[in-house]
Amino acid sequence: MSDILIESVLQEQRQFPPPPAFSAQARIASLEQYQQLCQEFQADPQGFWAGLAQRELHWFRPWEQVMDWQPPQVRWFVGGQTNLAYNCLDRHLTTSRRTKPAIIWQGEPGDVRTITYEQLHHDVCQMANALKALGVQRGDRVGIYLPLIPEAAMAMLACARIGAAHTVVFGGFSAEALKERLRAAQVKVVVTADGGWRKGAVVPLKPQVDQALADGQVPSVQRVLVVQRVGGCAMTPERDGWWHELQPQMSPDCPAEALDSEELLFILYTSGTTGKPKGIVHTTAGYNLYTHITTQWVFDLQEDDVYWCTADVGWITGHSYVVYGPLSNGATTVMYEGAPHGGNPGCFWDVIQTHKVSIFYTAPTAIRALIKMGVEHPQARDLSSLRLLGTVGEPINPSAWMWYHRVIGGERCPIVDTWWQTETGGMMIAPLPGATPTKPGAATLPLPGIQAQVVDRQGEPVPVNQGGYLVVTHPWPGMMRTVYQDEERYRRTYWEPIPPRDGQHFYFAGDGARRDEDGYFWVMGRVDDVINVAGHRLGTMEIESALVSHPAVAEAAVVGRPDELKGETVVAFVTLERHYQPGDALKQALLAHVVQEIGAIARPSEMTFTDALPKTRSGKIMRRLLRALAAGESPTGDISTLEDRGVLESLRPQPQ
Ligand code: WT7
Repeated sequence: MSDILIESVLQEQRQFPPPPAFSAQARIASLEQYQQLCQEFQADPQGFWAGLAQRELHWFRPWEQVMDWQPPQVRWFVGGQTNLAYNCLDRHLTTSRRTKPAIIWQGEPGDVRTITYEQLHHDVCQMANALKALGVQRGDRVGIYLPLIPEAAMAMLACARIGAAHTVVFGGFSAEALKERLRAAQVKVVVTADGGWRKGAVVPLKPQVDQALADGQVPSVQRVLVVQRVGGCAMTPERDGWWHELQPQMSPDCPAEALDSEELLFILYTSGTTGKPKGIVHTTAGYNLYTHITTQWVFDLQEDDVYWCTADVGWITGHSYVVYGPLSNGATTVMYEGAPHGGNPGCFWDVIQTHKVSIFYTAPTAIRALIKMGVEHPQARDLSSLRLLGTVGEPINPSAWMWYHRVIGGERCPIVDTWWQTETGGMMIAPLPGATPTKPGAATLPLPGIQAQVVDRQGEPVPVNQGGYLVVTHPWPGMMRTVYQDEERYRRTYWEPIPPRDGQHFYFAGDGARRDEDGYFWVMGRVDDVINVAGHRLGTMEIESALVSHPAVAEAAVVGRPDELKGETVVAFVTLERHYQPGDALKQALLAHVVQEIGAIARPSEMTFTDALPKTRSGKIMRRLLRALAAGESPTGDISTLEDRGVLESLRPQPQ
């Protein structure tokens, strides 16, 4: 935990009750109904989840034990067998959903594909057989490095179908970052594409894979399956194969394996407080149930909804709420390859108008970018199909919330501000749109079955409206199971910061929060060394490691600086090795080095060369001071532990 002070300055009083017309049709139609669900959980936590699992999922074999909690290890539906791909596909084929669009995909250049459940099932079975033909077996790991195209969902579902774990790496990550993740997960087969479209240009992907795999750097990788998207790329004979050549040879018959509830489903790497990304582990049944039920509850999913979540499948939001949650519910999920600012400033609104999107889920950073582009773009489109809006990824500032409410939602659509994390698998604190009155900037109340609190370092709940640490005190089915091959890090990161007391264990989320007089949660942001740039989570240590891997850098400290558009930007303080001169050329070289090591999302927006970093006497970098400097404030609070006060004076960030 860092030395950051948790303070909340936000004083937002507005309240928006669920629109009566919305509640009248909603699955959960009143606060009383929500409270009743919470009480059902309280009365019998295991019975609550068991009832849902029984009702909502298909089981090849029933479980023997609902939950086995050996803190901090948990297993759900122990002894049961199910299959996530079966729940997302096969079970819909015997209903009217067989011919319903499962995926409506739009490429950035405007190409559209509509894939029914029947077709998706067919293609997933072929892809599963292709993976098997390439040597993938149950228990193996498959790397997925794709643009946002339907094949990304197909590859994930194909893995889930045969019991191979996927590890999706966001296409914006560099070859170096890809290599690190493929190695850590000992990936056997990589599914990639020649490239994708981004802001009117081709972004090559396969060359990054080639670079990551060059010279046997990832010895576990045997084969690469390549989807053609942009017109070709170099292929390595023996190792690489084209999906479009393989697909016609593959049988569309591939029965879903009966998998154990706790079968490894996927590993998703995310940033933490050290330089090494953590492989967050999710398993089959609990994750399936949790993403399924939260999709239903929070999006009030109805049979004819057209649902669009703008996330990339490279992030947890894409896993849980582009692919698995919606498909498990038999919904129509829209995938759009482009960015909000991809040349046409109205492209998001065009997607909503064209496909008659009824539920729209995006990030505050995207909303702020869209606000900047001007109201004339949404106003020139027909957005009347919308009935519900959502946000995720960072706190939303009330002014952006109000714009979303007025301009996009026409004041008739509830807004669900959903707090959750890669680790939680699914949404944890969020309004139920037909039941919960919303307040701009608040994630409101924990979902039924979720026990969240705001506590101090001793686990003692803090008084109303006082800042503290956001924790969860009862296991839930979607929670992470461990850090891949690093149980010790799992304990240390999530279960030790707030020590257990009286048999009570605290899942430490790493966020600061306060609860108001109505019990609403206001999430204030990270309290650890993690920063949030445009909804993307970056570890300061990762960027520091990238910087110090350059021969010129002796030491580096990275902090986040509040940014109107992106939430935070990356600010770096760098000390140089002897014989290196600070200057613009070196600065540019270091910035390029970070892009090469991690990716463009990690590129510092500011970099300051300094002779020394402010440290405590024990040698710990005083990030609190750097954060204040980066924000253009004068450092306040205790600086008595600062070893050399002169250092502070010499530090002033210089814009690029
Ligand atoms: C961190 C998790 C969950 C999918 C996207 C990010 C921040 C997320 C909210 C919200 C305030 C939020 C937290 C959290 N965060 N949603 N509604 N309000 N903060 O997943 O990369 O695992 O990041 O995102 O700081 O810890 P992630």
